[in-house]
Amino acid sequence: MRRKFVAGNWKMNLTLAPARALVAALRERLSPLPPNVDVAVCPPFVYLFPMAKSLDGSGLQLGAQNAYEEPEGAFTGEVSVAMIADTGARYVILGHSERRHTIGHHEDDRMIARRLRAVRAGKLVPILCIGETLAERKAGQTNDVLSFQLAAALIGSESITAAELIIAYEPVWAIGTGQNATPAQAQDAHAHIRRDLRRIVGSATADGVRILYGGSVKPDNAAEIFAQPDVDGGLIGGASLSADSFAAIVRAAAPAAQPVSAR
Ligand code: PGA
Repeated sequence: MRRKFVAGNWKMNLTLAPARALVAALRERLSPLPPNVDVAVCPPFVYLFPMAKSLDGSGLQLGAQNAYEEPEGAFTGEVSVAMIADTGARYVILGHSERRHTIGHHEDDRMIARRLRAVRAGKLVPILCIGETLAERKAGQTNDVLSFQLAAALIGSESITAAELIIAYEPVWAIGTGQNATPAQAQDAHAHIRRDLRRIVGSATADGVRILYGGSVKPDNAAEIFAQPDVDGGLIGGASLSADSFAAIVRAAAPAAQPVSAR
């Protein structure tokens, strides 16, 4: 059975004092941590080291929001996988739609594939984000877009194992909009992703890879979304900035992860 995973993507929010306060509040609310859920927070690069210290001993894990594909060199402003690993972070979000569509020079699928290979080589775990825009959904292209982004990102990583990969299905139209995918829409997309994964990395791996849903997850919709058979947790943006909301979302992941006792 796949363990649930809930990660908070802080994006470019919080400065040091409120970041420390958030982690302190999370430690309080999530102690003890539900035994069947992995939980991580992904602060901006500059706060990885101090947050690693704040999280120490809590069982909460740390992730970065991106990584550069080259190991070192003249890449002003970029951060390598080894640098991220030095902080104690274990996860790296890759291919977030804001990086694909909104920020700077727009990351493309080849770049994301190179970064995924670099993250894996550095023994960190990528959280690969894929998802369709509203126009693509309206045009009936959702599955095609997911298939393309998934296959493109995994070029050169076909031997990856389930423990080395997390995928986040993040419909672009649901991110930060307050409009989440319905549980059925999420399940359809996740099942499609898992079917494709079987072809690319084999059934055993595909069955073990955790596929998170991201896009306006809140305490009041989390449980229903997480209860879908192919939804293995969530990548949480806005709601991860409040300890109350994020802790409630983590707890919503816990019952669905408990084995159902036989009648
Ligand atoms: P949101 O963001 O929860 O604020 O919609 C999710 C994400 O971008 O990962």
